[in-house]
Amino acid sequence: MCGIIGYVGNKRAREVIISSLKSLEYRGYDSSGIAYVVDNKINIIKKEGKVSILENNLKEDIVSNLAIGHTRWATHGKPNEINAHPHMVGKTILVHNGIIENYVELKKTLEKKYVFKSETDTEVACALIDYLYNETKDKLKALVKAKQIIKGSYALAIIFSDELDTLYAIRKDSPLILAEKDNESFIASDIAAILKYTNEYYLLEHDEVAMVKKDGIIVYNDKLKVIQKVKNVYNGTSSDVMKNGYKHFMMKEMHDEVDVYKNIINTYVPNYDVFELEKNFGNFSKYTKITIIGCGSAYHAGLVSKNIFEEYANIPVNVEMASEYRYKKIFPEKNELVILISQSGETADTLEALRKAKGYNLDTLGIINVHSSSIARESKNVIYCLAGCEIAVATTKAYLAQVLILDLLAILCAFEKKVLTKEEANNYLSELKNLPRETKKILDKQNEYEIIAKKIYKRNNMFFIGRNIDYALCMEASLKMKEISYIHSEAYAAGELKHGTISLIEENTPVIGIVTREDIASKTISNIKETKARGAKILLVTTEKLFKNYQNDPFYDDVIIVKKYNVFLEPLLIITPLQLLSYYVALYRGEAIDEPRNLAKSVTVE
Ligand code: AGP
Repeated sequence: MCGIIGYVGNKRAREVIISSLKSLEYRGYDSSGIAYVVDNKINIIKKEGKVSILENNLKEDIVSNLAIGHTRWATHGKPNEINAHPHMVGKTILVHNGIIENYVELKKTLEKKYVFKSETDTEVACALIDYLYNETKDKLKALVKAKQIIKGSYALAIIFSDELDTLYAIRKDSPLILAEKDNESFIASDIAAILKYTNEYYLLEHDEVAMVKKDGIIVYNDKLKVIQKVKNVYNGTSSDVMKNGYKHFMMKEMHDEVDVYKNIINTYVPNYDVFELEKNFGNFSKYTKITIIGCGSAYHAGLVSKNIFEEYANIPVNVEMASEYRYKKIFPEKNELVILISQSGETADTLEALRKAKGYNLDTLGIINVHSSSIARESKNVIYCLAGCEIAVATTKAYLAQVLILDLLAILCAFEKKVLTKEEANNYLSELKNLPRETKKILDKQNEYEIIAKKIYKRNNMFFIGRNIDYALCMEASLKMKEISYIHSEAYAAGELKHGTISLIEENTPVIGIVTREDIASKTISNIKETKARGAKILLVTTEKLFKNYQNDPFYDDVIIVKKYNVFLEPLLIITPLQLLSYYVALYRGEAIDEPRNLAKSVTVE
């Protein structure tokens, strides 16, 4: 939710903090702040709004070699300067990502000793640590005790005013990494923040406390024994977190889709052979039921693949929103596989849904983008999406990578369950070679979608309609439109419209009809025509084969046509133009495309 960073070393800490916070801004941008040491004193500056506002308030040329910083997504207390981090109580200064669930009762006790300035849960955690440090006179003991008392999720980077050459770090559920290089060390929410300096890092575990100095990092377990950490290496470069000449990360990441597909194909099925999939993914023949769980776009990827698993692998699939699955009665089955989908691998609801499924001894498979993230590490098995760093809050390449991985899994299951022969499975796989090329062609035609966007961007309501797998695609296309343009867009099962919602259709209401399934195309087309009859402006999104049936029937105002391929590929080709359409609509509305209001890239609180 929030982004935190800490630095100690020979570089100008304030500059390091500001540039790292900018790479973390996709995690939250309600306010930001920094605490830095100069002349053996702590200085704290906090500002409401984006990191650039904080940067503009750090003009004077001050050299500091130790600092912590924070960019906020407000949970407790309004997005203002008082509630911004860092918070300082007594000798303790800290920044926090997560939610302290028992902060109200802790505050009741601590109010006897401390006066609280903000509405935040974080300031309470700061006071608790300060209180325990005064009690124990030992920072490590105080932090271990605090971990036993604090309930909820947290990643904390801490400075104590009586030890201004050292940072401390603890975490539970919220992600936190550590890194050390020649005479400098980092604490960060994720690799994007420090990729400019190093791609080597340690993962701080729940039961650990880190002491971070310029000449190195010492990690203790909660018995305060020093432990050896395994170094991880991020297989990417700092350009992953750069815009590479594009105006927005979202556009850069849509253009990454071509290489993402090549990456997935070359890694998991280089010769388009189903046995390669079995070698890389494992054997799924024993499963008779699949439950797919995710949030937002990850949930939508599950909805698309439900159609494909059921249609082609003959396996019944339940798709669940993680926030609902967590608290509902479930009916676990012996040979049930639970698939957790997440780009960040840190989404709190999905992480807890995973733990619930494991609690019922269900096999769990994570389809995850961020390497070594919590859901990846806690799932029984994991398949990485290989989409690289995704910075824009609105997911594009990672969603499509999830859909492609699920497609490959469905083909593998269909083969293992003898629904498809090896030849049939490999025929479907061999069509994959067209995917990067066709996607490139779509991206090269981006100005066509810009022209359509120009016609609809002023509207405040619109509908995406389709049936079956097309309805699942509408869910994602509509979310993309909503989250970056703030247009009230709704995805609707085409056949359901006439049971009420069609009353919202009026003159010029944009209706985007997705039609790829041949056997029910005419049904969807008649539903689209029902909206046309009420004055809707129609954008038809279909395949070139189906379009042949309607090119002389002008019920549509605009059309987006994609190449006809198999059912495994078409969903991917349909979504990219609609991602571009949303991008241009938001662009013409002048919205903050990479950092939409009220959103954050990784939702680490429930
Ligand atoms: C999608 O564009 C949104 N950012 C959001 O719906 C996202 O898909 C959801 O929060 C799940 O995130 P995850 O894939 O990182 O778990």
